Amino acid sequence: MKQATLILDRDYRIGDIDPRIYGSFIEHLGRAVYTGIYEPDHPTADGDGFRSDVIDLVKRLNVPVVRYPGGNFVSGFDWRDSIGPREARPRRMDLAWKTTEPNTVGLHEFCAWAKKADSSVMYAVNLGTGTPASAREVVEYANHPGGTALSDQRRKNGAEDPLGIKLFCLGNEMDGPWQMGAKTANEYARCANEAAKLMKWTDPTIELVACGSSGSGMPTFGDWEHTVLNECHDNVDYLSLHRYYGNPHNDTPDFLASTMDLDDFIKTVAGIARGIKGKKHSRHTVSLSLDEWNVWYHSHGQDQTIYKNKPWGTALHLLEDIYNFEDALLVGLMLITILKNADTVKIACMAQLVNVIAPIMTREGGGAWAQTIYYPLMQASTLGRGVSLAPIISCEKADTAHYTDVPMVDAAAVQKENGDVVIFAVNRNLTDDVVLKCDLRAFGSASGGMMLAHHSVMHHDDMKAVNTEDNPMNVVPADIAPVMEDGCVKLPRASWNVLCLTPTVKK
Ligand code: AHR
Repeated sequence: MKQATLILDRDYRIGDIDPRIYGSFIEHLGRAVYTGIYEPDHPTADGDGFRSDVIDLVKRLNVPVVRYPGGNFVSGFDWRDSIGPREARPRRMDLAWKTTEPNTVGLHEFCAWAKKADSSVMYAVNLGTGTPASAREVVEYANHPGGTALSDQRRKNGAEDPLGIKLFCLGNEMDGPWQMGAKTANEYARCANEAAKLMKWTDPTIELVACGSSGSGMPTFGDWEHTVLNECHDNVDYLSLHRYYGNPHNDTPDFLASTMDLDDFIKTVAGIARGIKGKKHSRHTVSLSLDEWNVWYHSHGQDQTIYKNKPWGTALHLLEDIYNFEDALLVGLMLITILKNADTVKIACMAQLVNVIAPIMTREGGGAWAQTIYYPLMQASTLGRGVSLAPIISCEKADTAHYTDVPMVDAAAVQKENGDVVIFAVNRNLTDDVVLKCDLRAFGSASGGMMLAHHSVMHHDDMKAVNTEDNPMNVVPADIAPVMEDGCVKLPRASWNVLCLTPTVKK
């Protein structure tokens, strides 16, 4: 059997894991909101019209923050359309997705939904067609206690207490020509910096995310980050990265190697942020917000022009990717990559949450179910909290169409507060099981060491297997007997593994 080794030491610390790396995203797009989280006529709808079957699935994911309301949508959105009496709210053309937006769910409703889902809101402001003034005003409306026109308007609209939004995105993908009000790096940098100043003067407790590139393949990548941070560095807290992968040519080894690119992307952007900090002699650190990441290609991939070739409507079936088993493996690998960059990546949002390139699917009037990609996120979010440790992995490597020296096994390790260690590991090898020899000597002592308490495996013989409303448990992780002999654990071919190790002698 093939062999791999993993050395782990409690002193090889990458950094504290910010729980917000397990965030997600709801955009006013397709059926994410209407017939996704909100469906007042649904049998499970609560008094506010939210589907409680969906809330239950979101709660199990343990998502600490949800980005909202876009995405491309936000670049033409006026937040004022989404407040006040519902019957008076305007129906608007959303030019991003050629959709009619009824504004039935707006700012107050979404904050209420996030609370029910045990989450918090990461609110994106419009810096496409919007202005720094209007971005600042939503901060005052949401967060100022009262005694000004905007804060008193919020109170009149039913929220006596501030909505308490602590995290804001300064626009969305402003480097992309598909974006309403797209900007050059200089135009965006100036606009974002002025918006940041006004927003923080309005509420100094908020944190801000500036737009980085919408992908590392953009022609302006690198220069964009440099220009934006050169202008905004000390007024923003995070720089965003977006990354989606697909397997359009059915080359699974190459697809599963995509995280080599993600790791490179993250490290390059972190390097630019670090360089600007040095150049400015600043004590302030700008961390990274990977606030859109996922697999996206089943529903036509990232060609955003195709969404314009359809009739207008609301709750349209857009971007409804049906995820298979190999997508779940890549999502697991992306989570491993995020954990291994826990020193710089402090926020990450799987894009998105419900129906739109999402781990959760619904049928209007029908069921809600978890797609394959739901499970690695749920397990990482539930078990992967604490300190990220750097595993030293030695294993066979192979080349794929686009990547060189792709390790057969990739893994991340987390030391939890109670001393337990959780290893998330993927065996990329499609044909062979691998024996992973875990060298945990730094965790041993005269009186004991670590024992494998749980081993969960997600594997399916069919890489293209999916979950459906009728067969929602087709691709799910399963607990197997935890067997670790002489530090050796078997990782089945093509599998996502969660190994929970616990000290044999608890302090
Ligand atoms: O998540 C889908 C879309 O992808 C978002 O609206 C946009 O920001 C990105 O291009």
